[in-house]
Amino acid sequence: MYGRFLTQASTTQACRTDEKPGQTMRGRSILLLAAIAIVALAGIMLAIVRSSRSELKERANSTNVAQVALGRTVYAQHCASCHGANLEGQPEWRKRKFNGRLPAPPHDVSGHTWEHPDDAIFRVTKQGFRAFAGPQYETDMPSFEHVLSDDEIWATIAFIKSKWPPELVERRRSRAR
Ligand code: HEC
Repeated sequence: MYGRFLTQASTTQACRTDEKPGQTMRGRSILLLAAIAIVALAGIMLAIVRSSRSELKERANSTNVAQVALGRTVYAQHCASCHGANLEGQPEWRKRKFNGRLPAPPHDVSGHTWEHPDDAIFRVTKQGFRAFAGPQYETDMPSFEHVLSDDEIWATIAFIKSKWPPELVERRRSRAR
């Protein structure tokens, strides 16, 4: 009897000691899962924040096919007459014309559009050159404020950028950061 009790007791004990590491293991794996979930969630949130930031920074995306396609149409209708169908600008664009005005510069890499940040190109297009050079400045560059929507202007810039070498687009992007 006593002996049986002892065996029972030791079995219970054995069970208990067996159970403890089991419970700790379960506890640990729950903690581990929770940690993995937190890390994954943090990663997802970081990715979202990063992508929205880069979208904000780069509203004219030369790799966005739809945006570039819209920009191509807008450019052909509203810019090509002066800046050239192939973005080549007007002949002798560095020399003032007889009326003292400058011809339209190219938007391809032979010009200087690429030297300006996207924001500046946007503002020149939206507000016109006079907004920068002063109301007295004689220029043929019109303001597109009442002609194009902001999205159409950004699309036009995306199209212009798609004509530049990808390395140049990348260099400008890292400079803007
Ligand atoms: C009627 C002719 C004309 C049209 C149309 C026109 N531009 Fe211009 N643009 C000019 C001229 C001329 C200049 C040079 C301004 C100056 O220095 O007086 C210029 C300058 C610019 C500049 C500044 C470039 C630099 O490097 O400083 C940008 C950007 C620009 N144009 C964008 C556009 C866009 C985008 C469109 C179409 C939505 C457009 N332009 C349509 C004539 C035109």
